[in-house]
Order: sequence, then C-alpha cells, then structure tokens
Amino acid sequence: MATRGKLTIVEGMAISEVIAANWDEIYNFQARPGDVLIDTYPKSGTTWMQEIVDLVVHDGDEQICRRAPIFERMPFLELSHLMKPGMEEINAMPSPRILKTHLPVQLVPASFWRHKCKVIYVARNAKDVLTSYFHFDTIVGIHPDPEPFEDYVLRFMKGDVAWGSWYDHVKGFWEERNEHNVLYILYEDLKKNPQQEIRKVAKFLGKELPEDVLNKIAKLTVFEVMKTNPMANFTGFPKELVDQSDKCFMRKGKVGDWKTMFSAQQLEIFEANYKQQMSNTTLTFSDKI
Ligand code: A3P
Repeated sequence: MATRGKLTIVEGMAISEVIAANWDEIYNFQARPGDVLIDTYPKSGTTWMQEIVDLVVHDGDEQICRRAPIFERMPFLELSHLMKPGMEEINAMPSPRILKTHLPVQLVPASFWRHKCKVIYVARNAKDVLTSYFHFDTIVGIHPDPEPFEDYVLRFMKGDVAWGSWYDHVKGFWEERNEHNVLYILYEDLKKNPQQEIRKVAKFLGKELPEDVLNKIAKLTVFEVMKTNPMANFTGFPKELVDQSDKCFMRKGKVGDWKTMFSAQQLEIFEANYKQQMSNTTLTFSDKI
C-alpha cells in the first residue's frame, strides 16, 4: 500500500490520526432515545452482528435487508467524517437508528448512556482478533503497516493498535454490562449456537420471533452466505479506507485460525502476558476450534 496512516493517542486510546482530528464531534455525538449501538473491539464480528440485528428488526425479511450496503444501513460513528453516511446524514436519519462503533466503554458518547440506549457488545477471543486484525491492517490505509507479525503481536499486547487495548476493551464492557443496557455476546457462542444467540439478540431488542424466523436469520448470516451477499460483505466500502483489491474483508470467519500464525515461542509469550492482563476479570473465552 502506497501511503500509510499513523496512530495517535486520544484519551489514553491509540487511534488513527484522521479519526483523532474529529474526536470532539465524535464524543459529543447526540444519541436519541431508542438508538441502538453495536459496539465491538475491531475484528470481533461487528459486521456479522450488524446483519443479524437488521434481520431481527425486519423479521427476517432478506429483501429489505438488501436495500443498501451494511455500512450505509448502520453507519460507523468514528468514520462519519471520512465517508458517507457522514455526521449530517446520521443526524438526519429517522429514529430509531442503529449505529456501529469500536469505542471502549469509557469513551462511548455520554448521550447513549443518558438516554439508556441499548448496546449490543460482541467480544471475540484475543488470538483470533489479533490474527484477523493483522490481516485486516494490511489493507487499511489509515493504519500503520502491520508487518512483521512478530512485532504486531507485541503491539497488540501493549494496546498499540487502533482502538487501543483489546484487554481493557473486553473487560471494560464486561464490568459495566449491568450498569447499562448492554447485551454481551461472544463470537464463539454465536458460531457454536447461532440460533440461541440470535434469540437473545431478538429478546434484547424486544422482538418475539418464531423459531422458523430465527432459524432463517441464522442461515442468512452464516459466513459463506454473508460472504457472497454484496450488501453484507463490504464490497463497495471506500477503497481509500479499505483496499480489497488483493484481500477481501470476509476472510475466514473461523474460531482457532490463530493457529496458522503463532509460532510456539510467540504463543508462550502471548499466553503469559494474557494471564497477567486477564487476571482481574471473570470473563473467559474459548479459542479452540
Ligand atoms: P476473520 O478475519 O477471522 O475471517 P468485524 O466485522 O468486526 O470487522 O470482524 C470481521 C471478522 O468477522 C472477520 O474474521 C470476518 O471474516 C468475520 N466474519 C464476518 N462475517 C462473519 C460471519 N457471518 N460468520 C463468522 N465470521 C464472520
């Protein structure tokens, strides 16, 4: 990739300089009562959850959910100065809006909490997130070059990647989940038992959907189906931000792909550090296939 963006620090979190430039407007975003926020650390299944939520809201109607690309149906708050729909369009969207963010719990715009908005948080195990993020960062122009992998592992452990520390992000939402209106979902559970997890999402959003509709949503949001759905697979996302000429956004969608990247030595270092960083939480993950 010809040009590469840089990271800077905002409120203790590493973030792309071009996002940091608009931080005040992002943080002062005015949520409205009824807005729903889908929040994740990057590469944790955000797009998957977005598609699920849209289908739940529309009772499994796949035609309606193909009305526009996913990034237009559910705008990405932090990119609202860099692409359409921008802040102006988001502000003009009718309620209830469904928005996407990667902000950690302490940096979610206060208006979401003030209006008691529902937040669906998806977390994925650290090693698969790191692996997915490494591949993704090779095609994200506003982020630094992730190569080589051995350095990326160290950067990830230190939180020196966009949106900061994975450890603080997943723990932060876990600790606060009962203080706010937060549904905490694990990527691995969604993979293992999609219908059960989609039922939780529907219930959280106040939708009573019959089992056949839940089953239909599970089938429509399986990786292989979403990968070929141009309205859900990120085709058409601005090339200046994510250049998919050589690699596509919908990569593998697996649990345990980290095994293709980590050497035995990297794994040892990573696991020892993980134990330390996750010693103060009850949150646990499964990273086995
Ligand atoms: P991989 O790179 O491991 O394949 P996000 O949407 O938060 O950026 O997350 C992207 C990751 O979720 C990618 O992981 C992507 O392939 C995976 N993903 C997207 N849709 C999925 C689906 N329907 N089922 C499982 N994984 C999915």
